[in-house]
Amino acid sequence: MTKHFLALHDFSEIELNGMLTLARELKDKQKRGVPHRLLEGKSVALIFEKASTRTRISFEVGVFQLGGHGLFISSGTSQMGRGEPIKDSARVMARYCDGVMIRTFGQEIVDEFARYSDVPVINGLTDLFHPCQIMADLLTVIEHKGSCKELVYAWVGDGNNMANTWIEAAAIFGFELRLACPQGYQPDAAVMAWAQAKAPGKITLTNDPKAAVTGADVINTDVWASMGQEDEQKQREKDFTGYCLDDALLALAKADCIVLHCLPAHRGEEISDSVIEGKNSVVWDEAENRLHVQKAIMATLIK
Ligand code: CP
Ligand code: NVA
Repeated sequence: MTKHFLALHDFSEIELNGMLTLARELKDKQKRGVPHRLLEGKSVALIFEKASTRTRISFEVGVFQLGGHGLFISSGTSQMGRGEPIKDSARVMARYCDGVMIRTFGQEIVDEFARYSDVPVINGLTDLFHPCQIMADLLTVIEHKGSCKELVYAWVGDGNNMANTWIEAAAIFGFELRLACPQGYQPDAAVMAWAQAKAPGKITLTNDPKAAVTGADVINTDVWASMGQEDEQKQREKDFTGYCLDDALLALAKADCIVLHCLPAHRGEEISDSVIEGKNSVVWDEAENRLHVQKAIMATLIK
């Protein structure tokens, strides 16, 4: 059966650790100029129904470094944007390509695409999840902290696709995750219920960013209005008052805590310029690691 990468909950801790270990090996090889052409002659379709900088570039460069070929496909310039059914696009692309990455809106779109695809489908971000990003974040934590376990993680901001995926990661790896989200912006209830059942007591929700970050080892935030929510920007700026990760908030965390942000960042909104540019920030390592983990994910799934 074709194995897809649609959400972290489809994988065990051992399987995710296997991909993270491979990512470290591939990163080392790439840095030393050692060839690692694990996708020699393979083609991977990269479908974007939303904007992207990191995901597009890291997948295109990643496939190339693995000896394969990535095809950028935007909804606006393909028949997908003119209403060709997902199930038809999926079956056609599987006849040409060895794998597909898709960035889109509803999780049900990637789920349907995968149902009809005979080749692996990778979720490059939906409204519900961003699993490739959290894998890059975990690799970054491992590099800076030695392990991603036995640490306290804080999430400050919207209960969005990033928060939902962190919740899944916390449940799978069994680490403590404290989420501070304003009233009305909590993470997905079904994701929370699944995670609470899998890892009782590990994931907590508060409206108090200070409580969440106090003593934390890893702090993560993200934009207040995600792609598709641009019309809510002004309202969200009001509703997220007090949720800026600034020096005062950071001072409550451990002195050696690391700050993550998937980017793009809005300085002065969810994060201050001083924090993103400061000594605790590892956001550039985090962005780089998208390349290495995605190569590992593709090399693991695409045969
Ligand atoms: N972090 C992330 O997914 O960035 P892009 O939207 O630029 O791909
Ligand atoms: N939550 C953000 C992440 C961007 C990488 C969004 O969905 O727009």
